[in-house]
Amino acid sequence: MNELIKKLTEAYGPSGFEDQTRDLVQAEIAEYADEMSIDTMGSLIARKKGDGSGLKVMIAAHLDEIGVMVSHITEEGFCRFTNIGGVFPHTLLGGRVQFADGTIGIIGCDPIEERSKIHPLKKYYIDVGASSREDCPVHVGDAAGFTRPFLAQGSHLSAKSMDDRIGCVIGIEALKRLKTTPHDVYFVFSTQEEVGTRGAEAAANGLLPDVGIALDVTVAADTPNARRMAVNLGDGPAIKVKDSGMIAHAGLVRLLRQRAAEANIPYQLEVLEGGSTDARSMQIAGPGCAAGCISIPCRYVHSPSETVDANDVAQCVDLLVALLENPIDL
Ligand code: CO
Ligand code: ZN
Repeated sequence: MNELIKKLTEAYGPSGFEDQTRDLVQAEIAEYADEMSIDTMGSLIARKKGDGSGLKVMIAAHLDEIGVMVSHITEEGFCRFTNIGGVFPHTLLGGRVQFADGTIGIIGCDPIEERSKIHPLKKYYIDVGASSREDCPVHVGDAAGFTRPFLAQGSHLSAKSMDDRIGCVIGIEALKRLKTTPHDVYFVFSTQEEVGTRGAEAAANGLLPDVGIALDVTVAADTPNARRMAVNLGDGPAIKVKDSGMIAHAGLVRLLRQRAAEANIPYQLEVLEGGSTDARSMQIAGPGCAAGCISIPCRYVHSPSETVDANDVAQCVDLLVALLENPIDL
């Protein structure tokens, strides 16, 4: 699986500019899906047909990643930028970003007067090696994502867009493993999650599923002084109970716990105080649906070195397959 994780996490795909990542996912699943389509928002929808006895299930993993967008270029050729999604300024200085055409930018900062202070985004700029506005290879409106090579160290896997390429990998692996299912399953690789779960909202309103499950990262709070929740890296998939945008369907939480227990998959229960996922959009699309989330514990979320555990990832695939292979009785 590491080869696929490396390929997807190193791909370019800030919100609204997901096509390069989507092409990789599409090529990966082409022979496993019964039907594939791309909707107007750019989400890739892959259907795995059921035997007619089950429910309509939407699985959502988002293609997009946080990033930056050039908002102004100075006469000297430095690019000021705005954020795409939840970018923390303290993760920026000295980092590198990559534009759609492969251009790399170095992130610099105006002179730092107070070293202990975190500077606002407006103090930062991108240096692409230009010497004037005229010879700058990037333009206002161009988007960039962080760039950082994938790293596998023991069971820990680190990369710049584990959020949510690791969810995409879990969806892909589950689709590959799912030989038969009672359910009509739509694997949606969604766009624009990081700016407000927009792609999944459109897709869910089109599909009107009975059940919606997001595959996304959550905070592993097992780092120094972080403890506000019970999720640890390496302790198995986290079954979401609540985040700031959704309270998961109680019957679905119960069923996920039951399937995990039956298959001897360790799991944790997630109560996340900040942030949400595509499940929020699915839950309230159309007449609403039973929504939940299989979360992948992740350290350093929204930094260029988001870190997950390979065993958790494999167990998330196991749990999703166990859910989809069996009847869903809520
Ligand atoms: Co995110
Ligand atoms: Zn995410």
